[in-house]
Amino acid sequence: MVDISTTIGSLRIKNPTMLASGIMDEDAGSMHRMIRSGAGAIVTKSIGLHAREGYPNPTVLELEYGLLNAMGLPNPGIDAYEDELQLLKKSRVPIIGSIYGATPDEFARLADTMQHCGAAAVELNVSCPHAKHYGMEVGCDTQLLYKIVTAVTEQVTIPVFVKISPNVTNIVEIASAAEQGNADAIVAINTVKAMKIDLETRQPILANKTGGYSGRAIKPIGVRCIYDLAQHIKLPLIGVGGITTGQDAVEYFMAGASAVQLGSAVYYRGPDVFRAVCTELKDWMSAHGYTNVSQLVGAALP
Ligand SMILES: Cc1cc2nc3c(=O)[nH]c(=O)nc-3n(C[C@H](O)[C@H](O)[C@H](O)COP(=O)(O)O)c2cc1C
Repeated sequence: MVDISTTIGSLRIKNPTMLASGIMDEDAGSMHRMIRSGAGAIVTKSIGLHAREGYPNPTVLELEYGLLNAMGLPNPGIDAYEDELQLLKKSRVPIIGSIYGATPDEFARLADTMQHCGAAAVELNVSCPHAKHYGMEVGCDTQLLYKIVTAVTEQVTIPVFVKISPNVTNIVEIASAAEQGNADAIVAINTVKAMKIDLETRQPILANKTGGYSGRAIKPIGVRCIYDLAQHIKLPLIGVGGITTGQDAVEYFMAGASAVQLGSAVYYRGPDVFRAVCTELKDWMSAHGYTNVSQLVGAALP
């Protein structure tokens, strides 16, 4: 019998596939749809203190091997989003509230509201590659990140996840700052900073010019980040980036992840991708003699 349940610190999930932030999670209806599709946990859209419109179109492009987006963190602000979270209070799977901000105080206030609304954990998005003031500036400054994580972990009792960027050379230092601030898990990776130029107009196509690349093309980058982190960080790791099949999930587990998140795969394989990935994972595990996900975690590490 294959058991694909997993734990991330104190959080137990019935299967290791979580919906990644920003995809089909703008309201309770779409998140319910993902829960029905078999996701083990749901990460909300990243929410800030105040409503944000995001960037003008075009904001998402389908490229040859993945998606390029510069949404600009559009969201209704935490007060309006509370109504959506209330509708999910009886959800049978954990809801993880993703939040962004610029200061420790902003993050602490947002985390507090997420906890109050029933979130099982919060995920600090400090790694958006295209949101001015709220993205990489926060996640690359290790001292500021330490203060943010400390402020949040002192404010809430639910687990605190920190989502980090691949667009840096010191990913381990950044994760260490989060670890020192008492984070409960590291999520890696956010999108890879990228650009697409239209040959006819000779201009970048995205209104914001640069965006974040996601989907299958970035899986080797995500796997490398988890592998590096697993050798230096004691916290549980959640792998994200290009996971589309059960075997992709196995690769992330072997690199050191205890759970995975799927974003672009919902676009490529449809909302039922969670059930499909879990079936593929179970089939692969039983064919290879594994009975528990924990047996795979870190199997590729030196
Ligand atoms: C359209 C779109 C919107 C996204 N919005 C967010 C967001 O609000 N917060 C966040 O932390 N990540 C956001 N992401 C990044 C994803 O959560 C994920 O880290 C990334 O897409 C890599 O995973 P994937 O290859 O499975 O898509 C977004 C990604 C896409 C494609």
